[in-house]
Amino acid sequence: MAEEQKPGNPGAAIPGAATTGAVSSAAAPASPAPAAAAPAEPKPRVPFSPVLLKYINEPNSHTIEHYLARGGYETARSHVGVTEPATLIKLVDDSGLRGRGGAGFPTGKKWSFLAKGTGKPAYLAVNGDESEPGTFKDRYILERDPHELVEGVILTCYAIGSKHAFIYLRGEFILGFERLHAAVEAAKAKGLVGKNIFGTGHDGKPGVDLTITVVRGAGAYICGEETGMLSSIEGGRGYPKIKPPFPAVSGLFGCPTIVNNVETISAVTHIIKHGVAWHKQWGTEKSPGFKIFCLSGAVKKPGVYEVPLGIPMREMIDVYGGGLKDGRKMKAVIPGGLSAPVLTPEMVDKCTLDYESLASLGSMLGSGGITVLDEQVDMVSAIYNTMRFYHHESCGQCTPCREGTGWLEKVAHRFHHDEGHQGDVELLADICKNMRGRTICVLADAAAMPMQGFLQYFKKDFEAKIKDPAFVEKQRTYRDEISPKAKTLSATGAGPSALDVGSEMAE
Ligand SMILES: Cc1cc2nc3c(=O)[nH]c(=O)nc-3n(C[C@H](O)[C@H](O)[C@H](O)COP(=O)(O)O)c2cc1C
Ligand code: SF4
Repeated sequence: MAEEQKPGNPGAAIPGAATTGAVSSAAAPASPAPAAAAPAEPKPRVPFSPVLLKYINEPNSHTIEHYLARGGYETARSHVGVTEPATLIKLVDDSGLRGRGGAGFPTGKKWSFLAKGTGKPAYLAVNGDESEPGTFKDRYILERDPHELVEGVILTCYAIGSKHAFIYLRGEFILGFERLHAAVEAAKAKGLVGKNIFGTGHDGKPGVDLTITVVRGAGAYICGEETGMLSSIEGGRGYPKIKPPFPAVSGLFGCPTIVNNVETISAVTHIIKHGVAWHKQWGTEKSPGFKIFCLSGAVKKPGVYEVPLGIPMREMIDVYGGGLKDGRKMKAVIPGGLSAPVLTPEMVDKCTLDYESLASLGSMLGSGGITVLDEQVDMVSAIYNTMRFYHHESCGQCTPCREGTGWLEKVAHRFHHDEGHQGDVELLADICKNMRGRTICVLADAAAMPMQGFLQYFKKDFEAKIKDPAFVEKQRTYRDEISPKAKTLSATGAGPSALDVGSEMAE
């Protein structure tokens, strides 16, 4: 069991947990450590110890025996077939729980949007794709406490009136799949999933049925976008669909569907068990509760940390993360998964870990993946690596995304090789502008936003990688004057071939 989580004692953290991220940092000599900024205390702190990750370091925490021994499934048992579903939706709405998959949409509100009286079945689709670079939190629930998720699924399905839930997992989560699959089977064997769950359906009362299907993806970032995920569950390519209609109206197989993240659904059980006031004692007014953050990059103790929302970002980095490695200086922080615009150290000093603070700094809390970049990181190479990722992951349906991500990668590649052209900084900014808000899903925005952030705060790093203007002028002369002339002459058989002119250029 984890100890109480307080600064210097990060409870259920997993220092050294696998880190992901599309950034690179060159090895170079260390420099002296900066003085850590004192974190500003927004309000008296209510003590917090991990909730979602409380048991993950205990042996066999993934088994049903372990879960039942700690009171597991008792919350579902006391509500399924007993409490009015609308009461549970209101409770979750009142708790202020916001989706943990990235957008932070209020969960209870989303549930209340589910279309009713359609004559079609309603579905729950749980998003465990977790492909956002820098994000590795859901896998700990899936691998080490899958019954916590299954109980959340039971309660959510009962609340929204769904008899069938799909849990979609990133293809690479092999252990997570095995453990979740085993958890669903174990719950089935105990009558907690299946027909007439929890002994409902007797004494003239209607039974409650629930099927849970675990689906594995094939490893594509776009299958985390909710409609892409639904397409993939339906058996098609993971192509996002135009919204509206939103999934709550027409989702899986054209039926009303609620899509929620693994962490969101796992939190539901605890909120229903302990109530609204319990949840709201932590966090801020608009971002109540707690959240799992994934800390990676240049910190001494990268890992998964569950903390109350609203704590200073500096506390996460300096206390939970132990500060920067080898006394290096911070250059920037990517605060909410790779799509979140970058923060400078000055912005980090002002930032608290809640949705509003990050939005006020022009970025986002996103999936809670915090990547710290130190002074040795080559920002231009980091953004090139980032753009390679988005170009590779674009599904290709929309021209601004398919072409835009390709162009961003191509131009960033020039900078990466110290061969930026005059005007390339402006070209990158222009491509980003033309990508945003013009596509079926927001992957195009997710690619443009980090580039815009890097250009805004680290423009000098790009400018330093523009090749000698004389060389660029020589290239222009070749492209605009020599090459067309050569083509004309060689077409008439009267002049040098383009090959001859090319070798002249190479001199
Ligand atoms: C390109 C892209 C990738 C996404 N990847 C994930 C993901 O891996 N997991 C996730 O829960 N949400 C992901 N989302 C957000 C989902 O579309 C959706 O908002 C979320 O699953 C809703 O759950 P929530 O309300 O509980 O946050 C992604 C969105 C986009 C645009
Ligand atoms: S924005 Fe990109 S990823 Fe999204 S649907 Fe269009 S092409 Fe596909």
